Amino acid sequence: MRAALERELEAHGWISFERYMDLALYAPGLGYYSAGARKFGAGGDFVTAPEVSRLFGACVAQQCREVLRDMSDGCVLEIGPGTGRLAVDVLSRLESLDSLPRRYLILEVSADLRERQRGLIARRLPHLLPRVEWLDGPPTAPFDGVILANEVLDALPIARFRWHSSACEELGITLSGGRFAWCGRPASAAVTDACRRLAAAAGGWDEGYVSEYCPRLEAWAHTMVSSLRSGAALWFDYGLPRAQYYLAERHEGTLRCHFRQRAFDDPFLHPGLQDITAWVDFTALAEASATAGFELAGFTTQAFFLAAMGIDREMQRLAGGDETQFARLAAEARQLLMPGAMGECFKAMAWTRGLARQLSGFALQDLRHTLRLPE
Ligand SMILES: C[S@@+](CC[C@H](N)C(=O)[O-])C[C@H]1O[C@@H](n2cnc3c(N)ncnc32)[C@H](O)[C@@H]1O
Repeated sequence: MRAALERELEAHGWISFERYMDLALYAPGLGYYSAGARKFGAGGDFVTAPEVSRLFGACVAQQCREVLRDMSDGCVLEIGPGTGRLAVDVLSRLESLDSLPRRYLILEVSADLRERQRGLIARRLPHLLPRVEWLDGPPTAPFDGVILANEVLDALPIARFRWHSSACEELGITLSGGRFAWCGRPASAAVTDACRRLAAAAGGWDEGYVSEYCPRLEAWAHTMVSSLRSGAALWFDYGLPRAQYYLAERHEGTLRCHFRQRAFDDPFLHPGLQDITAWVDFTALAEASATAGFELAGFTTQAFFLAAMGIDREMQRLAGGDETQFARLAAEARQLLMPGAMGECFKAMAWTRGLARQLSGFALQDLRHTLRLPE
């Protein structure tokens, strides 16, 4: 990967960070998500909620069931399932609730991860494998049901910028003494415009403020949901409403890299071998719901979503009266729920279209006002 990036830099002299991140994560056969490597779970680079506990999938399944209940032919589409843990947990809980979707569709960019997902489902739920279908692109035929995406938005390439009130810079990469180095360039009109809007929403920044935004978020999300005729899209990720994300104090942005359970902020250290992420601007995601023709049906923390979907009842059920098992599940639940762990920095957002019912997962806490959307 490093050699491919060096060739790109030798050819162009400078590339934007968005381009760098795109290549480092997704370059065919070389990028972090495209090449084969053990990425998730205890032996990987980071741990996601479905990898922490099947309680997460059990609660998500309850929310899916509520949406699928009135549909004769409902499907679930999961975007970016990683190892496939969430798919297994959602399918097995829906089966036990007698609420299986007609199809469980999977959209995954990584061929390696597709095989891993197929292997896990084949081992754990072989009888349900015929119901699962891997798509080569977003569905084109209209369907009713649920779209799920856990920790996918944070992996979309971002543009990095340095703010000056006179002229904004876009941060990119050059080669300096044979090494990758940050290098600013006068930002394009589009990046400057985006930065001005973010600065205004945050109440202004000092000179030299560095942060990022995701230029492709809206278009990407629209493509993902365009075929959902009726139902809900559920987005889970770490992030904040815009006014909190772009606080003046957060003057180096939220760019993070993950490699072997360590988090650090140097994206040049292990290109192709480390994950690169940034928090999600949930105001931007909420704005995209309206332009996609969806209603913003809920925004809450992961803890409140899981509590509303009955994580306590799921714990009792999964433990089945076994105290050791219950203690293990309680430890997992703490990781999912505690504010200092995943409970508060991870959020859940729901978009709905053509759905009469309210979603129970968002009934305990409504944080939509924090997004500061126009009335
Ligand atoms: C951080 S992992 C999360 C995996 C899983 N959802 C979980 O919670 O464990 C990101 C996943 O999204 C996939 N992905 C990234 N960009 C994608 C895209 N544009 N379309 C579909 N999948 C994508 C990656 O290959 C990977 O499976």
